[in-house]
Amino acid sequence: MGISRIVLLFAAIFLSSQSQCAISSSSARNFPLLFDHRHRWVCNVLDFGAVADGKTIDTSAIQSAIDYCAWKARASSLHFPPGKYLTGALFLASNMAVVIDPGAIILGSSRQEDYPRERSRWYVLAAENAVNVSVTGGGIIDGRGLEFVSRFWSRKNVMVSWNTTGACIGDECRPRLLGFVNCENVRVWNIHLRQPAYWSLHVANSSGIYIHNITMYGDFNTPNNDGIDIDGSNNTYITNCRLDTADDGIVVKSIAGPVSNVSVTNSWIRSKSCAVKIGSETDHDLDGLYFDSITIVESHRGLGVQLRDKGNIFNVTFSNIVLSTRLYDPLWWGRAEPIYVTACPRNLSTSVGTIDSVRFINISSSAENGIFLAGSDGGVLNRLELSNVSVRLGRITDYPGGLHDYRPGCQGLVHHRTAGVFMKHVHEVTVKDVNLHWERSGVEDWDLPVDFEPRTIGRLWMSNFTSSA
Ligand SMILES: *[C@@H]1O[C@H](CO)[C@@H](O)[C@H](O)[C@H]1NC(C)=O
Ligand SMILES: *[C@@H]1O[C@H](CO)[C@@H](O)[C@H](O)[C@H]1NC(C)=O
Ligand SMILES: *[C@@H]1O[C@H](CO)[C@@H](O)[C@H](O)[C@H]1NC(C)=O
Ligand SMILES: *[C@@H]1O[C@H](CO)[C@@H](O)[C@H](O)[C@H]1NC(C)=O
Ligand SMILES: *[C@@H]1O[C@H](CO)[C@@H](O)[C@H](O)[C@H]1NC(C)=O
Ligand SMILES: *[C@@H]1O[C@H](CO)[C@@H](O)[C@H](O)[C@H]1NC(C)=O
Ligand SMILES: *[C@@H]1O[C@H](CO)[C@@H](O)[C@H](O)[C@H]1NC(C)=O
Ligand SMILES: *[C@@H]1O[C@H](CO)[C@@H](O)[C@H](O)[C@H]1NC(C)=O
Ligand SMILES: *[C@@H]1O[C@H](CO)[C@@H](O)[C@H](O)[C@H]1NC(C)=O
Ligand SMILES: *[C@@H]1O[C@H](CO)[C@@H](O)[C@H](O)[C@H]1NC(C)=O
Ligand SMILES: *[C@@H]1O[C@H](CO)[C@@H](O)[C@H](O)[C@H]1NC(C)=O
Repeated sequence: MGISRIVLLFAAIFLSSQSQCAISSSSARNFPLLFDHRHRWVCNVLDFGAVADGKTIDTSAIQSAIDYCAWKARASSLHFPPGKYLTGALFLASNMAVVIDPGAIILGSSRQEDYPRERSRWYVLAAENAVNVSVTGGGIIDGRGLEFVSRFWSRKNVMVSWNTTGACIGDECRPRLLGFVNCENVRVWNIHLRQPAYWSLHVANSSGIYIHNITMYGDFNTPNNDGIDIDGSNNTYITNCRLDTADDGIVVKSIAGPVSNVSVTNSWIRSKSCAVKIGSETDHDLDGLYFDSITIVESHRGLGVQLRDKGNIFNVTFSNIVLSTRLYDPLWWGRAEPIYVTACPRNLSTSVGTIDSVRFINISSSAENGIFLAGSDGGVLNRLELSNVSVRLGRITDYPGGLHDYRPGCQGLVHHRTAGVFMKHVHEVTVKDVNLHWERSGVEDWDLPVDFEPRTIGRLWMSNFTSSA
């Protein structure tokens, strides 16, 4: 394969309307001091009978501490001194600060009888219909996810399924670790989340969520152990976090309702699926999503926007991101795309919305696959922008390439030649200051810079696009 070097300079066919993100780009956002720790009534869980030996189930002792504390004072603090607290589901109250000391570990029970009947309430620690709740202290919340593995498998662990009631099927029937449902004003910081059995941190139908300086670690072969899942919530601010889990890192979805104003900055993510993902459940609109100064390593997909339902996605910015992707077993979604935007109906009987104004600026990547931008007949991609994006394409694993990944639904996995930038069904797209560099590979047809079906592209504005080997 000879050296190919092309430079495309197209005249501007339209004036790109610079959409501004609705969120302030200040990454050093000041977190409001909503949780004054003075003047709080403190409940030490040991005073309420928690044994903290890592063997005795402490659920009722801890829950009675919560209930007493909430009754006793308007603002309270639930204190976990060092120790191992084995527990089933715990439900927090409003105006409560949970303080888990360094050396204290909350361990999730792996027995279904320690959780409520309804699957929607399966959390180790949760707040429902609450305001002014916080979790901090430097300690650990551990879901004991490995206890839920029914068969260890190098491709993807097979998990225990709590589907005895028929309420859920397959491998989606396990408890989450930490959750906030119908909450307002939540702050989670200086805490470690470990080995979730399912998602690590779930925010649903809530508003005013501040998450900073937390770490997450999940087994790299365990399915569904997502980092942070934000569903139907407004005003979520995440900064200085480190997420290392097998399944998606940060996920924004709209099952519970619309989503506005999500900001994720200064964070580090590794995922065997998609590091930063919008979708795929998108029943309502999502708008004003901002991802800045993020490092993504060894992920199966870098930045993914995956519309499958009738909601629309507007005003998304990804900026100042360094990322590397690689292939893993195809049982995991992703095909090592550094940037991925798709809109197609979940199945033949559903419709799909529109993706409008998504910008990728200052992105530096190394990847085993190219950028993938694919709408569908019903799913329009409008006003996409790639600006100052570099991709170093190289093969580092033996997993087969040459696949377009439309999952979930749509066409599934489709064989197709690898391209640096693939585009299909895009109404308006700007590609400027984009540089591809191809490492030598034994793969045939490896260094195709751009691939698109002209009849499916409305306006393409390309300038300073280079590809070299
Ligand atoms: C997107 O951002 C632009 C510019 O700030 C704003 O006018 C528009 O209302 C936003 N669109 C949505 C759907 O939020
Ligand atoms: C939540 O906290 C704020 C600030 O301390 C306070 O003004 C408000 O009353 C609290 N809300 C409730 C429902 O207690
Ligand atoms: C539970 O899930 C397993 C695995 O998917 C399946 O074989 C079994 O039939 C399910 N049981 C019920 C009651 O849904
Ligand atoms: C979402 O939260 C709002 C405000 O707390 C509440 O009124 C509404 O019932 C919640 N929706 C659901 C589906 O729980
Ligand atoms: C982050 O949290 C850890 C405890 O988990 C704490 O030791 C450290 O000081 C925190 N860092 C900052 C900058 O607050
Ligand atoms: C988020 O904001 C939208 C639009 O204002 C509103 O309809 C929705 O109820 C809000 N959701 C929550 C959980 O506050
Ligand atoms: C989103 O943030 C903007 C700017 O801070 C604010 O004006 C707007 O009310 C927020 N949206 C919602 C639904 O809270
Ligand atoms: C299509 O997807 C919708 C929404 O997830 C679901 O309710 C419906 O059962 C699916 N239909 C088919 C034919 O799979
Ligand atoms: C392009 O992005 C890189 C980071 O990927 C940054 O170092 C560089 O300064 C940017 N160049 C311009 C002209 O913005
Ligand atoms: C891109 O990088 C340049 C150089 O570092 C910086 O000046 C510019 O603000 C960045 N753009 C965005 C949108 O962050
Ligand atoms: C072309 O884009 C690259 C980044 O990909 C940038 O470094 C270079 O300065 C740009 N050249 C021109 C003439 O704008």
